[in-house]
Amino acid sequence: MSEQRIALVTGTSSGIGRQTALLLADRGFQVFATTRTTDSRISDLRAIKSVRLDVRDEDSVRLCLRQVLKSAGRLDLLVNAAGVLLQGAVEETGIDEARAVFERNSFGVLRLCRAALPVMRAQRSGRIINISSVLGFLPGPYTGVYAASKHAVEGFSESLDHEVRQFGIRVSVVEPGFTRTRLAANGELTGQRLPAYRAEGTLAQEAVRGAIAAGDDPRTRSLCGSASSHQPPSPAALRGRAHGGRPQSPQTICARAVPRSRASQAARPSPDRGKPLSPFPPETDR
Ligand SMILES: NC(=O)c1ccc[n+]([C@@H]2O[C@H](COP(=O)([O-])OP(=O)(O)OC[C@H]3O[C@@H](n4cnc5c(N)ncnc54)[C@H](OP(=O)(O)O)[C@@H]3O)[C@@H](O)[C@H]2O)c1
Repeated sequence: MSEQRIALVTGTSSGIGRQTALLLADRGFQVFATTRTTDSRISDLRAIKSVRLDVRDEDSVRLCLRQVLKSAGRLDLLVNAAGVLLQGAVEETGIDEARAVFERNSFGVLRLCRAALPVMRAQRSGRIINISSVLGFLPGPYTGVYAASKHAVEGFSESLDHEVRQFGIRVSVVEPGFTRTRLAANGELTGQRLPAYRAEGTLAQEAVRGAIAAGDDPRTRSLCGSASSHQPPSPAALRGRAHGGRPQSPQTICARAVPRSRASQAARPSPDRGKPLSPFPPETDR
C-alpha cells in the first residue's frame, strides 16, 4: 500500500476548504476534495480527487468515506471546512433556519467525524481539523445561530480530542477571523426582518460582509510563515484566542496536519507512522 498520506477535505468548491485542499496536495498529500456539485469541483489532478458530498446527508457521508477507502485504503487527515453563514437577530431566526445551519456547521462536522473515526481507530492514527470561527468562542451580534453552531463544534471537538487521544488520533479546531471567501455571498439572511432590529441589523450585516470582502486572502495568511519560523506564535495566538491573535488559514491547517519538517517527507514512510501522537504539538505545529 502507498505510504502517501491521505486527506479528506470538505467544502472545496471555494474559500478556505479549496485552498486547504490545494495546499495539502502541494505538501505531498493525496487529497480527496469534496463538493456538492460537479461543476464547482477542483479539476482532478494527480494529487487531488473530487468526491461528491453533502454533509447534511448521512448516506452521502457514508458513500464519500467508502470512495476514499476504496481508492486509498486509509485516511490520515480529515479537514471539515464546509459551512454556511446565517445573519440576522436571534429573535428573527426561525427554528427551521437555525436547524439548517446546525445541519451543516455542527451535525455535518459530527457526521464526518463519526464516519472517519472507525477508520482512524483501526489505523491507530489520524488527525481531524474542524474549522470553527472566532465566533466559535467570541459571539457577535446578528450572527447568533452561526456562533452557536460553531460553539457546538468547539465543544464536541475538544471533548473528542480527549476521547480519541488513546488511539493516536488528535482533534483540533481552527478559528479563522475574516477571510476573503464566498462565505457572505453564499450565506443567508434570516427570513424574518423585525423593524426593531432593522437599523442596527443592517449595519451589522454590512459590516460583516465588508470585513469578509476585505479579509485576508485564504492562500496567504500570515501563519504560514509562522509555521516555519524559529519563533512560532503561542498556542493561544494560533487558536486566535489571544488578544490580537492572528486569524487562521489553510497554511495553519497544513502546519497542524504536517509540520514543515515532515512536509517534504510526506510521500515517504514516516518513522512514527502508526505510533500514538504526542499530546504536545511539535515545535512547528504551534
Ligand atoms: N470566511 C470567513 O471570514 C470565515 C471566518 C471564520 C470561519 N469561517 C469558516 O470557514 C469555513 C469555510 O468557509 P469559507 O469562508 O471558505 O466560505 P465559502 O467560500 O462559502 O465555502 C464554504 C464551503 O462549504 C460548502 N458547503 C456548504 N454547505 C454544504 C453542504 N451541505 N455540504 C457540503 N458542503 C457544503 C460550500 O459548498 P457549495 O459551494 O456547494 O455551497 C463551500 O465549498 C466555514 O466553516 C466557515 O464557517 C470562515
